[in-house]
Amino acid sequence: MPSPVQLTVLTADLAAVEADAIVVNLFQGVTSPGGATGAVDQALGGRISQAIAAGGLKGRLGETLVLFSASGVKAPRVVVVGLGKREGFGEESVRRASAAAAKAARQAGARTVATIAHGAGIGGLDPETAARATVEGALLGLYRFTDYKSKTAGRSDGPDDEAPAAEGSRGREVTELRLVGDDQAQRPALDAGARRGEAVAVGVNLARDLANHPANVATPSYLADAAGQIARRHGQRCEVWDRAQIIREGMGALASVAAGGPEEPRYIILEHAPAGTETQSPVVLAGKAVTFDTGGISLKPGLRMGMMKMDMSGGAAVLGAMETIGRLGLGRRVIGLVGATENMPSGTATRPGDIVTALNGTTIEILNTDAEGRMVLADVLSHAQRFQPAAVVDLATLTGAIGVALGPGAAGLFSNDDALSAALSAAGDRSGERLWRLPLWDEPYAKMIESEVADIKNTADSSPSPAGAIFGAKFLERFVTYPWVHLDIAAMAWGADRLAYNPKGATGFGVRLLVDWLHAGA
Ligand code: BES
Ligand code: MN
Ligand code: ZN
Repeated sequence: MPSPVQLTVLTADLAAVEADAIVVNLFQGVTSPGGATGAVDQALGGRISQAIAAGGLKGRLGETLVLFSASGVKAPRVVVVGLGKREGFGEESVRRASAAAAKAARQAGARTVATIAHGAGIGGLDPETAARATVEGALLGLYRFTDYKSKTAGRSDGPDDEAPAAEGSRGREVTELRLVGDDQAQRPALDAGARRGEAVAVGVNLARDLANHPANVATPSYLADAAGQIARRHGQRCEVWDRAQIIREGMGALASVAAGGPEEPRYIILEHAPAGTETQSPVVLAGKAVTFDTGGISLKPGLRMGMMKMDMSGGAAVLGAMETIGRLGLGRRVIGLVGATENMPSGTATRPGDIVTALNGTTIEILNTDAEGRMVLADVLSHAQRFQPAAVVDLATLTGAIGVALGPGAAGLFSNDDALSAALSAAGDRSGERLWRLPLWDEPYAKMIESEVADIKNTADSSPSPAGAIFGAKFLERFVTYPWVHLDIAAMAWGADRLAYNPKGATGFGVRLLVDWLHAGA
């Protein structure tokens, strides 16, 4: 699955590069730009510094200025993007700026966009990081989910509205991104950074697509097919269990969620093990993939229930990460596990009060069928034990409560291992997918999940109960026998479009984080 945007790297003078638009940048507070921006400014007879002097450009992060019909440079459009203040500048600033610039270029009608690697000069980033973040930002920012738009006429997001039908169903799109360096010695670093940035963006955009597709399309078997395609593309092993096998193997918790509907659940095992790593203890990535969460018999209120097609975002992030590490040929064994099912009410659905047995033998009293994600993960995390993993990271849109605690600022992190927790948090800071650790103390939290009749219960008897996100994590802990991190991504997976690189809808949260952590040597 190639990126729809073709990526090339070249060493050239930006002013002479052939493209519909070139992109340069500006730190906040700079009045006479240097580096590549200074060179373009000079070629333009000072039009950029004039704009700064006239107050038309401050250099705030993500701010853009588009100059047209510029003589002196080959491209007919020049985009200047703000990098923000120098303090606090880093790869996350680059992603945001690059996304804003790419979208401004598209908005201005460009199909081919040439950009410098933001931050490699006075920004002080190493050229590989600058290249990677520039490419990530542009490709993530240019993403649009238009699969169900029958024609461009109905679009409502700016001048692209006017795109004639001949533009195709996706409207006017950027088709080529050129990363331009001026120093041949930096070429290998730019190549490597661009390749990694593209691989990450393809994985994130795959995860976004899976979550954006409605539940009548992105069913558990659709996810299993997507996993099979990832495996075929990258020589990974893919095994898929259907409902009969899920029941036969003893996954009573996952099966209880799937009981409400005719749509077949799927348990997906994807294994990336390049030659020589087959006997390594693997890293396991585990994902909740509830393709639609009605709440089951404990039916959710109707308001905004449609958003619950995104309740498979944890599983989508796992699949996106497996795509990226396959593309990168990561030299470590990684196993992706995805529990995929709908959560529907019906005459065959699980009832509140039912008791089921999970794969590890734990009996669970189901007091609320809307607490289904922990049921899915109970069996997935139990199964992960069989691989004797070095570490397991699960991702799940598990609780509304995590959004109450952290809002859209960070995903909740829970862990039984301080070193693993710290490594994930550091990856979160670098990748811009931030995490915040919450406690898993036995006192006072262990008592919450005790049941009168079974080993544990899946929710408190009263609602709303305190510490809802911790309840979910304490529940999952009962199925874990290895170094483990649980990420509650319920408030991060959807609708973070205040960030320039995130569209409306699915964000693909978690892919960048996981890939960064694995790349750093997990
Ligand atoms: N999928 C939801 C959590 C969720 C909420 C995800 C909002 C994304 C946005 C989960 O299955 C759920 O329903 N959780 C319940 C748990 C409760 C019944 C203990 C919740 O958070 O209300
Ligand atoms: Mn639910
Ligand atoms: Zn759910």
